[in-house]
Amino acid sequence: MRTTAIAHANIALAKYWGKANVADNLPAVPSLSLTLDRLRTITRVEVIESLEQDEITLDGVRLEGRPRERVVTLLDRVRNQAGISAFARVTSRNELPTAAGLASSASGFAALAMAGARAYGLSLSDTELSALARRSSASAARSLFGGFVALEAGKESAERVAPASVLPVSMVVTLTAKGPKPIGSTEGMLHTAATSPYYAAWLESAPKLYDEIRHAVLAGDLETLGAAMEQSALAMHASMWAARPAITYFTPTTLAVMARVRELRSAGTPAFYTMDAGPHVKVLVKSTDADRIAAELAGVAGVESTLVAGPGPDPRLDEGVEV
Ligand code: PMV
Repeated sequence: MRTTAIAHANIALAKYWGKANVADNLPAVPSLSLTLDRLRTITRVEVIESLEQDEITLDGVRLEGRPRERVVTLLDRVRNQAGISAFARVTSRNELPTAAGLASSASGFAALAMAGARAYGLSLSDTELSALARRSSASAARSLFGGFVALEAGKESAERVAPASVLPVSMVVTLTAKGPKPIGSTEGMLHTAATSPYYAAWLESAPKLYDEIRHAVLAGDLETLGAAMEQSALAMHASMWAARPAITYFTPTTLAVMARVRELRSAGTPAFYTMDAGPHVKVLVKSTDADRIAAELAGVAGVESTLVAGPGPDPRLDEGVEV
């Protein structure tokens, strides 16, 4: 059986950082994201009786080592549930830069869960697919839904909070550097929890910021959302900066983009930044302002490119799409 799925990346407005349970990959704090239209992963899974092991290709390159193992682990869970032992050929393409803090694992594992479950004959609900994706990458649980999506602390699966129409916003994604991130998110979270005296403060403040962000989304209040979103991102990064040794994803360009966003705001344009496990800056703006702000941020020294992403839809199966 052969199945292809398309899933979209999401960017957390209220950040997830830290695990309540490492073995089950359950988040220690609630998070809330916006799914994005322009950033997506397309994944085809073919179950082939004659294969002696899984064959996994991402963007034309055969995966080996840890990245391969993470895919095989998800497929093993699906095989167990389906009672089928045959291996699969997985072909995947990212329409976004991989492993640079641009949520490639979110769209990647969401697409893999959807295509993999179906290819092995399972009919799972969105909630079950979200739980399957979450075991591989908690942020991937959120990519099983379009619009604004929440994953509560300790919960198995994400749920939609509101459709994108509650707040007409876009993300200006500012790419500030090439190359992979210095430390992966799982390792970074465990290191922060083990060594940062600010981790406890993060665990205390994250749920409050999440509540504020959730209410602001539902109220369509971009100003409150933006202020709380910036605080969530910086509180998360502060917990990492206080780890030993520190985890610092920011570059001078990251800080320069943040400064430019604050200037735009002082000049009257609502624009708010957020940063994940990488140096790029994602700027939340009114959709009507997005192209103008993208052009402004493209002019900041060190910025390599910008792209505008609007709210994205649910993932879907699509047998016609090219991989
Ligand atoms: O689910 P992971 O392991 O990709 O971790 C995601 C962590 C952040 O991107 C930094 C925050 C988030 O909520 O997406």
